Amino acid sequence: MAEWQKSDWRAKPRVQMPEYTDEAELKAVEAKLASYPPLVFAGEARRLKAQLGAASRGEAFLLQGGDCAESFEQFSADGIRDTFKVMLQMAMVLTYGAKVPVVKVGRMAGQFAKPRSAPTETVDGVELPSYRGDIINDLAFTPESRIPAPSKMLQAYTQAAATLNLLRAFSTGGYADVHQVHAWTLGFTEGEKAEKYRDMANRISDTLDFMKAAGVTSDRLHTLQTVDFYTSHESLLLEYEEALTRLDSTSGKWLAGSGHMIWIGDRTRQPDGAHVEFARGVQNPIGLKCGPTTTADDLKVLMEKLNPENEAGRLTLIARFGAGSVGDHLPRLVKAVQEEGANVLWTCDPMHGNTIKSATGYKTRPFDSVLREVREFFGVHKAEGTIPGGVHFEMTGQDVTECTGGVRAVTEEDLSARYHTACDPRLNASQSLELAFLVAEELSNRDRPQAAEAV
Ligand code: PEP
Ligand code: CO
Repeated sequence: MAEWQKSDWRAKPRVQMPEYTDEAELKAVEAKLASYPPLVFAGEARRLKAQLGAASRGEAFLLQGGDCAESFEQFSADGIRDTFKVMLQMAMVLTYGAKVPVVKVGRMAGQFAKPRSAPTETVDGVELPSYRGDIINDLAFTPESRIPAPSKMLQAYTQAAATLNLLRAFSTGGYADVHQVHAWTLGFTEGEKAEKYRDMANRISDTLDFMKAAGVTSDRLHTLQTVDFYTSHESLLLEYEEALTRLDSTSGKWLAGSGHMIWIGDRTRQPDGAHVEFARGVQNPIGLKCGPTTTADDLKVLMEKLNPENEAGRLTLIARFGAGSVGDHLPRLVKAVQEEGANVLWTCDPMHGNTIKSATGYKTRPFDSVLREVREFFGVHKAEGTIPGGVHFEMTGQDVTECTGGVRAVTEEDLSARYHTACDPRLNASQSLELAFLVAEELSNRDRPQAAEAV
């Protein structure tokens, strides 16, 4: 078989991608991007792959989260810092429950392109092309805004580079200091649940005090003040992805230089389509969304294409079926994986199967449905004897009102107060942390892995 080329996807059927009208401008932007430095490096992607491999064996746990769609307009240092901070808090709580390291991966520094359920949208009788993310067109509802513009790829690259720069600085700058654990629960003031969270925070804090008293200080504790933090996004806009793909001189393999991990969405996972063709040729860890329409046969073909060497950590299956439906779909896919003897990491995205329209007209997700899907996911894995290895959330560090519920309950009437997402509704900081406490509980019931193999 001919060797893979980064442009091979162009010969395959593509869906969910824009039709650019200015071919010359498109070519110029692609050439420019191709001359820019990659955003991530092969050694980092390989380290993430090893850590995801550990998660697939139950020796680590993946926390993946961030915006549904990153926005040019809402780009700010505070926004990045707050999401980063909440993810670290969640990771600490999850580590406590799972008793294994938590691998932290942001939906950040590249999560700009969106698949849509319909090619057009109609408002007050006016029909326009759908918004497809800031890297493609504009959210404003005017004909000009919705024309795809290649130059937006350059702005996305610049924003991604600045985001990564900040994340790299935060990762070593003390933000990761776990000694703040008490402060995290301050927002949870009332009720039995809040009591439980404070109790867990106290236990974490006691453990840290004990370590300090036992002489585990400076050097060792330093590892609690610096973290590995990785980036990820849906690999949807393949012109952008191809332009940032580089040959890694150490391994002689291709690397998608746009982010550490890339995933294939539920609408673009056709086994013979362009998106699978692109992802199969790069060495990054790959995510694959699995939804209600994923068949066992397709999954088998996809696993063979995307991970022919059956490498641990290469392929993460992101289950997103919706609360009440996990039991109808996950068991047959778990069986398909077992029949193939495939190495995969199973994670749960409890967001995309639980989107509803509220009575007040907003797209929302009830916190209880999100939690229920996570519990069903853990339940199926327990029954099948397989490993629930991670969670995938749409969330922000900001105090938005986009999902309903949680201990500081957001009601349907509250949604209009701070509804800022450019696409799907996100969990706010308090809801995210609450969910982490609840997932930690599930994790503490997870079967312990067999004796850890040396990596
Ligand atoms: C997403 O993760 O934002 C997304 C669109 O998910 P899915 O492909 O699973 O619908
Ligand atoms: Co989304």
